[in-house]
Amino acid sequence: MSEAPEVKPAESTTPTLAPRGLEGVAVAETRIGDVRGEEGFYHYRGYDATELARHCSFEQVWHLLLIGELPNARELRWLQDQAVAGRALPGGVSTALDDIARLPGYTALGALRTAVSLSAAALNLQPTLDLTPDQVRADALRMVALTPVLLMRLHRVHQGLAPIDPDPSLGYAAAYLQMLTGERPGPEAARALEQYMILTMDHGFNSSTFTARVITSTGSDMGSALTGAIGALAGPLHGGAPSRALDMLDAIGTPERAEEHLRDEVKGGQRLMGFGHRVYKTDDPRSVLLHEVARGLGGPQVEFAEHVEATALRVLSELKPGRRLYTNVEFYSGVVMNTVGLSRDMFTPTFACSRTVGWTSAVAEQASNNRLIRPSAIYVGPPAPRPLPEGYAYA
Ligand code: ACO
Repeated sequence: MSEAPEVKPAESTTPTLAPRGLEGVAVAETRIGDVRGEEGFYHYRGYDATELARHCSFEQVWHLLLIGELPNARELRWLQDQAVAGRALPGGVSTALDDIARLPGYTALGALRTAVSLSAAALNLQPTLDLTPDQVRADALRMVALTPVLLMRLHRVHQGLAPIDPDPSLGYAAAYLQMLTGERPGPEAARALEQYMILTMDHGFNSSTFTARVITSTGSDMGSALTGAIGALAGPLHGGAPSRALDMLDAIGTPERAEEHLRDEVKGGQRLMGFGHRVYKTDDPRSVLLHEVARGLGGPQVEFAEHVEATALRVLSELKPGRRLYTNVEFYSGVVMNTVGLSRDMFTPTFACSRTVGWTSAVAEQASNNRLIRPSAIYVGPPAPRPLPEGYAYA
């Protein structure tokens, strides 16, 4: 039997075990923004995010998050120019993009993740460790500008349609819809989508943002951080389920059926989609504004959604008293995106596009004051070192 080598215990003290899911643990300092769940408030660099969504354009808030301040007219023009120039496809990717769009297991988000990685490789994005802060921000601008172009090209080719180049005279949200249909969107639809996108650019130290930071902490490049962040967003516990609230409306079908359907669901132990939140224990501020946006768009689905919401809140307070369950961002997000013409498979990818602003801002902040993120774990397996089983040999 082989004699196990004697391993001396490490000199360092045993690490303390953080709560599962790192709940309540602060792992960084940030100047980008924060969420205050008890108050129903979140902000971007100190400004109430819902106020920004009411009064600013996508590009203004993009400048705020990435550069640090709301832009003056000259700074805004600079960002708009960068944003339009950054929409150009990198050389050599168009055929590969079309191949991705025709893959048998195509999903819009999986294809986008692959296309982001492909584009970053084509652009030869360099490790953030080797870049100046200005160079990191240039990569950030390029990738935020490019991501919706990749998504819309994949989407159209997947449907057997010709891709549509973005109209340089349109801002981020309007061009998004124009690349989808080929037509200039109406101002109400473009503004509704723009407000949705501003509201979802960032939201505290969420899982995908943390993922982007961990990747950046190794000194890796912007493309790797974004690819990883999209992977984290793909999970149903994070961004992978905004169409489920709309599916619930479909399952209810008519206003008269709402009460019975919702009661049966809750009594049967099911979760009502679009209600409850880990952090918000009062109204989710995104849901409040998206409700207003949906109302502004109008249409029968909005009235039906309002009826279902009111019924759901009543049912939840009766059957789940004291749990503080309110409408969350997903309930009216689906209604807004559906009304502006996005299909359900495009909901999470649309969320991914707006969130690139938050992710790239987090990458820039991490790179500017970096320390490798390398936590520990408590080993709970069989006592180590273990001797190899007797006679066990190379085979
Ligand atoms: N419908 C019915 N009951 C609910 C709901 C809901 N939507 N949400 C929570 N509850 C109940 C739970 O059953 C539990 O009841 P119990 O005490 O009788 O066991 C109690 O409220 C507390 O639930 P937790 O699981 O501890 O709440 P948690 O904070 O972990 O969950 C979550 C938050 C996952 C969002 C949950 O509310 C949920 O599943 N909602 C529905 C799915 C949804 O809308 N997801 C999108 C969230 S928004 C976003 O993440 C971007």
